[in-house]
Amino acid sequence: MTRAWWKDSVVYQIYPRSFMDSDGDGIGDIPGIVSKLDYLENLGVDVIWLSPVYESPNDDNGYDISDYKKIMDTFGTMADWEELLDELHSRGMKLVMDLVVNHTSDEHAWFVEAKQSKDNPYRDYYIWRPGKDGKEPSNWYSNFGGSAWQYNEETGDYYLHLFSKKQPDLNWENPAVREEVYDMMRWWLDKGVDGFRMDVINFISKPDTFEDGEPKPGKKYASGSSQYRNGPRIHDYLHEMHQEVLSKYDVMTVGEMPGVTPELARLYTDEAREELNMVFQFEHMGLDSGPSGKWELKPLELRDLKENLTKWQEALEEVGWNSLYFNNHDQPRAVSRFGDDTRYRKESAKMLATLLHMMKGTPYVYQGEEIGMTNVSFDSIDDYRDIETLNAYDEMKEEGKSEEDIMESIHAKSRDNARTPMQWDTSENAGFTTGEPWIGVNPNYTDVNAEEALNDTDSIYHYYRTLISLRKHHDVIVDGKYALILEDHPEIYAYTRTLGEETLLVICNFYDGEPELDWPEDLRGKEQELLIANYLVEEPEETTIKLCPYEARVYLVK
Ligand code: NOJ
Repeated sequence: MTRAWWKDSVVYQIYPRSFMDSDGDGIGDIPGIVSKLDYLENLGVDVIWLSPVYESPNDDNGYDISDYKKIMDTFGTMADWEELLDELHSRGMKLVMDLVVNHTSDEHAWFVEAKQSKDNPYRDYYIWRPGKDGKEPSNWYSNFGGSAWQYNEETGDYYLHLFSKKQPDLNWENPAVREEVYDMMRWWLDKGVDGFRMDVINFISKPDTFEDGEPKPGKKYASGSSQYRNGPRIHDYLHEMHQEVLSKYDVMTVGEMPGVTPELARLYTDEAREELNMVFQFEHMGLDSGPSGKWELKPLELRDLKENLTKWQEALEEVGWNSLYFNNHDQPRAVSRFGDDTRYRKESAKMLATLLHMMKGTPYVYQGEEIGMTNVSFDSIDDYRDIETLNAYDEMKEEGKSEEDIMESIHAKSRDNARTPMQWDTSENAGFTTGEPWIGVNPNYTDVNAEEALNDTDSIYHYYRTLISLRKHHDVIVDGKYALILEDHPEIYAYTRTLGEETLLVICNFYDGEPELDWPEDLRGKEQELLIANYLVEEPEETTIKLCPYEARVYLVK
């Protein structure tokens, strides 16, 4: 049987606003991306996932779409986009587009109509409810703060927005909405796109009634997430989408799914059920947060990470497929979050990459990860641009938190950590733009940049190249069965992957100590080959291995 192409692919995510500006307006654009395709081809990635490039008023940087079939002016034209697609295809690479259909922008023509009157033909494209006792229809909060309901003067009722009030939720109950979405997907697929990353796709099925969530002390609004995540008709909708659209094309699909469990992910990605190829889960991204959410900082416990990733590897071993990521445009930079972004920046970035890329699933690399870009610490809230960060700042102020504590949380967790401009070289603005960048450049660009990484054969970039190329040459990396070893070791994350006679032994020292481990008994007396390591390793090992800070090694044993 031939394996689906997305199973041995590596995906590279581009956040267009911050990747490369070609015209000096301070905002990245599509011609900028085209100018960097050699860089991406050389890295060896197979697929580009492009965060939204559609027409948008940019309340949430393009995740609020006002026209699904138009390219945003600041990013270029449809001709530019077509050139990007052609250039990728001529290099044997693929293009996956972001599909944002839980909500539109409030400036989308459908919503402009819908809000005008109760009998407007587009009215039922969105979710409207009357107020309750002079208040919102339910006490749900929006993921960006405040109520999830917005009052509409014209019609005297409220619409639902799980994100900002400029992102009204679409009503998937309405068959006309589903048909519009499928139509639009076909339109892009007919243009030649190779798949979709589906934004919060497990939020699209809403409950029949909107019950109040359990309020937390001192909070005005409560979470409704248990009612709208993985909602009542979600599997029907995804299966229908598959039947109507996806089954007709050779594409890859990945559904972004906050609140998905391994059990549910098996359902979403079981090939026989015909829904999606893989999902983005979030459990491992929540391990360094306290009970009140992402802004409550808590150090990561390695044991929690091992337990979590192992659970996901095992759950999707036979049925379904994993996506593998530590970074994206919503997450702080992993090297700052889980590694050491000063003394051991290179070592820890390579270790994290090893840990992830040797697992079973499709790895995702987020722009700048391959050169070890770090979090940024802007002094003032005025330097931040992200709507979630700005709203959270105001909320934390209202709750009486100190400026210092708030900024500590923002420095650690703001989505803007991932959105500072890509660092290309040591020239002004890191070579990203000749104009004024829309968000500040991380001042460490003079040390951390692509030019330096390309020139240094020992760089993080070259290490990623090797990791990516190993996947192409060893089936065990794609298909091998995962098993955690040294389960209780407090510093080392080690696992094996086994396929037939071959075993891959992956050893990662997660901290800056120098722990030792014994070469596994059952792998003794066999031929061993060191496939990759982030330090110089002298001799093949059979007994005790002493690791350096953040050391990572991968052996092939047979
Ligand atoms: C998830 C996206 O990744 C994020 O950037 C966006 O703000 C929300 N969905 C809303 O579309």
